[in-house]
Amino acid sequence: MKMDVLLGLQWGDEGKGKIVDVLAPDYELVARFQGGPNAGHTLEFDGIKHVLHQIPSGIFRSQILNIIGNGVVLDPIVLQKEIGGLAKFSIDYRKNLLISKKATIIIPTHKLLDAALEQSKGEKKIGSTLKGIGPTYQDKIGRLALRVGDILSPDFKEKYQALVEKHKTTLSFYNHPLDQLEEMEVQFFEAIEFFKTLNLIDSEYVVNQALAAEKKILAEGAQGSLLDIDFGSYPFVTSSSTMTAGACTGLGVAPSRIGEVFGIFKAYCTRVGSGPFPTELFDQTGEEMRKEGNEFGSTTGRPRRCGWLDLPALKYSIMINGVTQLFMMKADVLNIFEEIEVCTHYELPNGEQIDQLTFEVSNMDVKPIYKKMKGWNCSLEDVRSYDEFPEELKAYVSYLESELNVPIKLVSVGPDRVQTILR
Ligand code: GDP
Ligand code: IMO
Ligand code: MG
Repeated sequence: MKMDVLLGLQWGDEGKGKIVDVLAPDYELVARFQGGPNAGHTLEFDGIKHVLHQIPSGIFRSQILNIIGNGVVLDPIVLQKEIGGLAKFSIDYRKNLLISKKATIIIPTHKLLDAALEQSKGEKKIGSTLKGIGPTYQDKIGRLALRVGDILSPDFKEKYQALVEKHKTTLSFYNHPLDQLEEMEVQFFEAIEFFKTLNLIDSEYVVNQALAAEKKILAEGAQGSLLDIDFGSYPFVTSSSTMTAGACTGLGVAPSRIGEVFGIFKAYCTRVGSGPFPTELFDQTGEEMRKEGNEFGSTTGRPRRCGWLDLPALKYSIMINGVTQLFMMKADVLNIFEEIEVCTHYELPNGEQIDQLTFEVSNMDVKPIYKKMKGWNCSLEDVRSYDEFPEELKAYVSYLESELNVPIKLVSVGPDRVQTILR
């Protein structure tokens, strides 16, 4: 058996949570492999809207095991709150939620460091969610971090204190105030006690034994490929490997064990936080897209920047991830437009046109070259099959498939589970 991977191909918020929830009944395990509480994955069903940050999006299906893998950075305070938020759904989280002892812990000073580092960058700030992600991954790579398994050791407090002392040196360099720290630490240690009661495991064994037992696993990506630490628009990226390869290191699964790679993209583009965004619209059209798509962050509530679909960027993400199936999200948001544009190339300052996301392109102002297409300009609310799609939407899907050379197997026409059209 192989493990399927589901990833965002743009700058995050493509609708990963919705689709993991839709696909989950086909799987026995759903696993997060990177990121942390910077993610906000929204699920809608039976009139309920719920946002998950660290818990995998299979949690609402009682037969599914949900794993938080070693590649994740976990905030115990956020986790306790998140689990508290599930109480009304009577989910048996002690049975259905398994956490890797090798996952890294976000401690309160990581959040202070995130704020201090962002502040020090001034106009060049990343637009981080300030959840402590960057400083925690920095400590992981620097071989200083605390891991989930450490909370069970009798000297956890000393290990914690040693790390905090290091952080305080840096915080004092930035003149960052520490007045919130005491209260944050009270919450943290309370959350750690709760954390100890959860199902902490060696997830690489659980995952590989499940594969050996022919069980189906879906790896749920967070963020998006254009925020990847290696291939995203560095330095305006997150600090983890958001691509297929990250699912291998973030769960302990061999590359030869990867099956389908589902690439999710919006029918247009959004980005929250700073960094290059060639097709960004600063006009009324962008404003209408934001309003129609309700493009406000699920984690921070910030307005998302909006623009037309960017084919060179999408082709790049498909290439680095080995995407085998495409899922197009939020097609309904484009209902309002009589004409739709798609960026096919970038024009460089010297007039040259290219369709690659080279190092230089990621670091300069490029002009998007657009192909214009007729919009469908009607509601998709009652559409329940591909045959019922307006001709213009069918033409949009066919055009994208011909450009991207990967089949679009699913089109999403609304936030609810049922507003999902399989092809
Ligand atoms: P994720 O981070 O990739 O899981 O995506 P988010 O949950 O942050 O953002 C996606 C938003 O779009 C959420 O509010 C979803 O409820 C919503 N959404 C998902 N699919 C669709 C769709 O097809 N149409 C519309 N209108 N909204 C959708
Ligand atoms: P999901 O999983 C959209 C962005 C932030 C910022 C940059 C770095 O919901 O798609 P970080 O907090 O990681 O230091 O922020 O990455 N970012 C996201 N944007 N969706 C996300 O997650 C994101 N997680 C981080 O806005 O620009
Ligand atoms: Mg999100």
